[in-house]
Amino acid sequence: MSKHTVVLIPGDGIGPEVMNAVRLILDASGAPVEYVERHAGVAALERGGDDVLPIDTVDAVREHHVALKGPCTTPVGGGFSSVNVALRKKLDLYAAVRPVRSLPGVKTRYENVDIVIIRENTEGLYSGIENRITDDVVISLKVATREASERIARFSFDYARSRKREKVTVLHKANIMKLSDGMMLDCARRVHDSEYPDIEYSEVIVDAGHMRLVQDPLQFDILMCENLYGDIVSDLCAGFVGGLGCTPGANIGDKDSVFEAVHGSAPDIAGQDLANPLALLMSATMMLNHIADTMQDDEARASADRIKAAYNHALEDGQRTRDLGGELGTRAFAKAVIERM
Ligand code: NAI
Repeated sequence: MSKHTVVLIPGDGIGPEVMNAVRLILDASGAPVEYVERHAGVAALERGGDDVLPIDTVDAVREHHVALKGPCTTPVGGGFSSVNVALRKKLDLYAAVRPVRSLPGVKTRYENVDIVIIRENTEGLYSGIENRITDDVVISLKVATREASERIARFSFDYARSRKREKVTVLHKANIMKLSDGMMLDCARRVHDSEYPDIEYSEVIVDAGHMRLVQDPLQFDILMCENLYGDIVSDLCAGFVGGLGCTPGANIGDKDSVFEAVHGSAPDIAGQDLANPLALLMSATMMLNHIADTMQDDEARASADRIKAAYNHALEDGQRTRDLGGELGTRAFAKAVIERM
């Protein structure tokens, strides 16, 4: 079987460090992939570009359909708009899939957590439509369309059925945002009742849902959310299993998919060999499983299985980065995984 071309986008901050580590592990696993490297974020400007999301980066993903991406910095309160949001919209990567699972050897307050967050990735308050009405009044528009609400509902139930999961819970605030969140609920109910009656379905108001999550995360299976709630609940759930250093993600569209960790560019630890590469590594295993599913490549699945077994083995042996209570640096953790492959 020939190799699949993956677009590597190292990103900013800790991005290049964790990407290097993951690449070494992918190579050691014999993954049937080869790479083209493209840049985005501040990294693209630093290479002399004039755009944080160069067109050749977007075109490369359109051409090869699969990318592994590091985090991109977004300035707070001004400056350029989020590269991450722009990439998801340009490529119509409408579903963010973020599994949150307890890891062997990583002690937290909770055990046996197994939640998948499915976040609508293209609209809501992340539409970026903001206007200044006067010096002291601004508006941010929350956009919801029936088309996007229906497709994220169908994606969520499909995901549940194909992964043999039992329950989809929609987090919403339709008591206040009666039109936008109301439409998402209406779509979820209708898609469920007409096409997926075999999947258990429930709805929880997002604020109470967060309280219930903290009380007992084991009561939830798949959480379906609009964009902002999905962003927030992803970080909350990351805290159940060890934090942002070990929470992976995928941005899926009908044609293209971009795999990236939930975490950001972590400027506080960048360039110090402190970052945990596990979140990006787990995203890379999701990528290999996606290649296996969509391109019928058993070798890709075998590599994903080898990588997963090796990082679990490393964690069980107490090989951990500092965020998980260990002492290893980024490179040393990658080495520990490779030694167990
Ligand atoms: P962050 O996720 O970068 O960092 C939050 C905390 O988690 C920091 O203390 C950081 O050191 C720690 N952390 C994150 N990843 C880690 C890892 N792999 N290993 C060990 N510790 C880790 O979030 P923050 O500080 O809010 O955002 C920093 C920048 O990243 C911002 O410009 C933000 O816009 C951007 N960002 C980009 C994302 C993306 O590219 N998809 C996602 C989230 C934020």
